[in-house]
Amino acid sequence: MKNTEYLIILCELYRIFAQNLILIDMKPVQVCNDIYVINVNDRRKQLFENMWPLPFGVAYNCYIIDDEKTALLDTVELGSTNNFMKHVDDILKGRQLDYLIVNHMEPDHSGEILNIIAKYPNVKIAGNKQTFKILETYFSHTENLMEVTDGYELNLGKHNLKFVTTPMVHWPESMMAYDTENHVLFSQDAFGAFGTLDGKIFDDEANFCEDEMRRYYSNIVGKYSAMVQKAFAKLQGFQIKVICPLHGIIWRENPAKVMELYDKWSRYESETGVLILFASMYGNTEQIADHVARKIVENGVKNVCVYDVSKTHVSYLMSDAWKYKVIVLGSCSYNGEMHPMMEMFCREIEHYGLKNHTVALFGTGSWSGGGLRNLQKFAENTGWEQIAEPIEIKGIPDNEKFAKFDVFAKSISDYCKK
Ligand code: FEO
Repeated sequence: MKNTEYLIILCELYRIFAQNLILIDMKPVQVCNDIYVINVNDRRKQLFENMWPLPFGVAYNCYIIDDEKTALLDTVELGSTNNFMKHVDDILKGRQLDYLIVNHMEPDHSGEILNIIAKYPNVKIAGNKQTFKILETYFSHTENLMEVTDGYELNLGKHNLKFVTTPMVHWPESMMAYDTENHVLFSQDAFGAFGTLDGKIFDDEANFCEDEMRRYYSNIVGKYSAMVQKAFAKLQGFQIKVICPLHGIIWRENPAKVMELYDKWSRYESETGVLILFASMYGNTEQIADHVARKIVENGVKNVCVYDVSKTHVSYLMSDAWKYKVIVLGSCSYNGEMHPMMEMFCREIEHYGLKNHTVALFGTGSWSGGGLRNLQKFAENTGWEQIAEPIEIKGIPDNEKFAKFDVFAKSISDYCKK
């Protein structure tokens, strides 16, 4: 038995196993002309990529163009619905599927590829060199491949797809397909968001949640912001009327809005505001964080938020770090280091390479310290400018110690009001 056949059987077994885990998906919806979306709302998955909490779920979208030639653009996560093949059948109404266009190979979009191949054995798989490497790695599939390169055009009849390679937005093989006749951009992960659609497929039907889009951007795509900017450069001059991402709503009323947001975030452009993060074991560091927050607000700065890094998942902290220009970090000492949960945040920031931010630091300790010392190393590693004289105190804050933080808060406020 060939590896591919073996994997198809495994997929079918998984499908049977997943019968009790079936998620809710809507019937396909027409996007425009002969373009349809198959949307699956995943409200059961707790953690996206087994890391990122999904309090509002996540949606997987894929698209079919039912033209003289038929094309399916990506699939959905395996086991996320047992209706996927039925939806494809319902749109094609007995016609053959001519092309499976693989814009992105991550399993949340490639999960049904083998089932598609099994049902439509003559389907041509369109992808680039990198796509095919990953296709073989995941599914041992090497047949009926149609390689496309940057700018390659595939005519389906009334629809003409032009491919735009967008490496590392989000994987090396990632690419987009632009319908030159209908001005529709199939943007794969780009312009996506967390959250299920709940019947609201299009931007003009939804109350857009920027927070969940920014959390998706900062944690999933943000590390590759430079590549997002390269993708924007390639899309220059394209007339884009509709954006069809693989997650989140479809943008048909105001696609410029989501492009502006992604452009802003990928240029590390932030808003005036202060994100205060603390790690506290006995409440002393927390008291200082609250004191500093109050003083900054008294000094006339409005956008101030305070989080306990031990309580709030780092994905939310990353999202607000992307949003606000000024980040205040306060950590108690722990075995001569900063608190491990603060260390996790700092490690994430360094890993993601967030730029164009400023920082103010404070630490607490009981004998030899370590919190502030290690926060200082973080500031050096990021190259972020420190906008207030750092402070380290021992023990419980009293009026004399709080007074030092009044000065600390004033420096931060003055910077914000510049
Ligand atoms: Fe939604 Fe990179 O996959």
